[in-house]
Amino acid sequence: MFDKDTYSRRRRTLLTSMRERGQKGIALFIGNDEAPAQYKDNCYKFRQDSSWLYYFGLDEPGMAAIIDLEDGTETVYADDVDIDDIIWMGPQPSVQSKAESAGVIRSAPAGDLAAAVGAAMNLGRPVHFLPPTRHGNTIKLMELTGLSKARINKVAPMDCEKGSHASQELVDAVIAMRLVKEECEIKAIDEACDLGYEMHTAARNAVRPGIVEQEIVGIMEGITLGKGWGVSFPTILTQHGETLHNHLHDKIIDPGKLLVIDAGAESNVHYASDFTRTLPTGGRFTPRQRDIYSIVCDCNEFAFSIAKPGITYREVHIETSRKMLEGLKDLGLVRGSVDDMVTEGIAGLFMPHGLGHNMGLDVHDMEDLGEDRVGYDPDQKRASQLGLGSLRMARRLVPGHVVTDEPGIYFIPALMAKWKADGTGKDFVNFAKAETYSDFGGIRLEDDLLVTENGVRRTGTKRLPIFPDDVEESMKQK
Ligand code: GLY
Ligand code: MN
Repeated sequence: MFDKDTYSRRRRTLLTSMRERGQKGIALFIGNDEAPAQYKDNCYKFRQDSSWLYYFGLDEPGMAAIIDLEDGTETVYADDVDIDDIIWMGPQPSVQSKAESAGVIRSAPAGDLAAAVGAAMNLGRPVHFLPPTRHGNTIKLMELTGLSKARINKVAPMDCEKGSHASQELVDAVIAMRLVKEECEIKAIDEACDLGYEMHTAARNAVRPGIVEQEIVGIMEGITLGKGWGVSFPTILTQHGETLHNHLHDKIIDPGKLLVIDAGAESNVHYASDFTRTLPTGGRFTPRQRDIYSIVCDCNEFAFSIAKPGITYREVHIETSRKMLEGLKDLGLVRGSVDDMVTEGIAGLFMPHGLGHNMGLDVHDMEDLGEDRVGYDPDQKRASQLGLGSLRMARRLVPGHVVTDEPGIYFIPALMAKWKADGTGKDFVNFAKAETYSDFGGIRLEDDLLVTENGVRRTGTKRLPIFPDDVEESMKQK
């Protein structure tokens, strides 16, 4: 948890922002509860709601809060433990002292929350809430407000349909704040990245013919469990990198393949890292692997070189796709005008995902509040083309944004077959040549970037080896 002034300041900024948006009533925040895995006393590891963490920091279940947008009062709602809880959990600080550690003066029992929300609604005061991530919180909000499930998850302006839905103004105010990282958050992200660096280094050192992918996953996840909260998302570690989010780890490492490792750490204060490296399983790239790898590596470097305040990440994605097409053209995998290929979205055949996403308390930061609302400026519209259409962060960059830079090239047999059958890209794609890569797999190379005043810097203190010679060298020095 950060110091209490951090949370008080954030809530004051939120209050001002909501008032500037002309909003009245109350803002209702609901923290997460325990999530049973099989039965109520055997739960998944507790993970707090990220917006709750941002404004209140209290990292435990069963909490809610109200900020009154008119008189500015703040109240945390939760129950003190009783003797039964103490027997099983040990002594706990009082709710009042927990609230004070987040800079909140008032606390009340959890059971008072319904009355407080009900009183506001009876007076016709708007109740602002965020669309919940967890079903349990959807049900809580349904009970508190009497709204349907669909209404709880619908985000609209509060003056629309008398505010019977999640609050667009609150969503926009929260996104505006969480998108631009504060110094303490940048430090936390750097720490998560240093932990991610250690995870990937351990994984690289573990790669050898005959080991099962799952054993490497265990080694790398042990690092972040030992020093941080755990992984920031389910680890991707696969010799079938052409499947973008392949979570199977059942294959034996086979020399001659490419191993995509896309994994990140979540620190103890819950900030994420997200790195991808692609390793030659036998320690050396084949010439064909090195050719494709070098294009992806150039694209990663290129995106880094052009990203800076003022450019949109959409432009960075498009210009990086251009760079990729130039490289693929040099290899004879595509032909014709690169400008025309950019317009036609030909890069989507090889990279059917976006260049990157926002990162912070969530590895895909705030996507629970709406992917487009988080990743697109109001004047931007998501494209429909394969690849560009999957871009999750398109906004104009400003200092404090943290985004991933993760180009990739994949040879996906089913996608190549579909484009060929449909005639998509027929003037540009050399399908005969592309088909010879059907057993190639995929390559993705991902760093995390902080937008600074003049450009970007990579987060974390050390960069994982990425240039082909450096990767081979690092695999020798185990
Ligand atoms: N690293 C996983 C993702 O960005 O989706
Ligand atoms: Mn990523």
